[in-house]
Amino acid sequence: RKPKITVVGSINMDLVTITTQMPQMGETLLGKQFQMNPGGKGANQAVAAARLGADVRLIGCVGNDLFGQDILQHLRNEGIDVSDVEPVTDRTATATITVYNADNSIIVVPAANHHVTASFVESKREVIADSDVLLVQLEILLEGVQKAVEIAKENGVTVILNPAPIQELPAELIRQVDYLTPNEHEQMVLMQQLGEDIREKLIVTKGSQGLSFWQEGRELNVPAYKIDVVDTTGAGDSFNGGLAVALSQGMSLKAACDYGNAVAALSTTKLGAQTGMPTAEEVAQFIQGGRNQ
Ligand code: RIB
Ligand code: NA
Repeated sequence: RKPKITVVGSINMDLVTITTQMPQMGETLLGKQFQMNPGGKGANQAVAAARLGADVRLIGCVGNDLFGQDILQHLRNEGIDVSDVEPVTDRTATATITVYNADNSIIVVPAANHHVTASFVESKREVIADSDVLLVQLEILLEGVQKAVEIAKENGVTVILNPAPIQELPAELIRQVDYLTPNEHEQMVLMQQLGEDIREKLIVTKGSQGLSFWQEGRELNVPAYKIDVVDTTGAGDSFNGGLAVALSQGMSLKAACDYGNAVAALSTTKLGAQTGMPTAEEVAQFIQGGRNQ
């Protein structure tokens, strides 16, 4: 049986400028290339999981504009069930991204993503309850995240919360989550706020340093795969999608983390958040090829 993964999250249009120099405030300079790509942490994680062969449903909102229509068509082409993505009277969210030296900086305008309220999510209760794994991030309203997690827990659904972009989180929300997948900065903020108690839920992603998690009081490291990086945008989302699929297939946490690392590595070889996300066969081949480090 295919794993059933539900993502409650953001859907953005990524407006990407590739540059060889960064402007100072007030300065204008010429960039190298421009791209418009479907993105958003929610949609990205949905695409990552769908490419890996999962049965994916996305719950979220798009605007009543051309970006929204484009993105919905694209997500359908990826085989994602978007019957629970609703158009609202607002703009589709945008992410203005600058890619410089294979690294990025991003400004997100939430727009339609902030129509994902608790009552909207409540109206999708059946879908969430019927999943193996719920994937959530923090680009929609916090009340929407809280409601989704609450429904999942009531129904024994495994919850992965990718706490990005980081914000203050209620302890009760964290208590209901099975896995938290911050990067190092997000982890620091979480620990400052919530203390050591959350340690056993953490999977901390560290880019080229791989990741670490805690098991029975010990910190375990899972190294990253070495690869030529073009664009890291969406690498974290690729990891989360891969982790969700691997866990729902019954892999051990360590194996699932390694699998997620492979998915993330492959995703960085192409420009754009979703472009490089691999299929299950591509991941299997890549892992077989071994880590060249
Ligand atoms: O995680 C990458 C994503 O963050 C991009 O696709 C962009 O939309 C931002 O939300
Ligand atoms: Na990429």
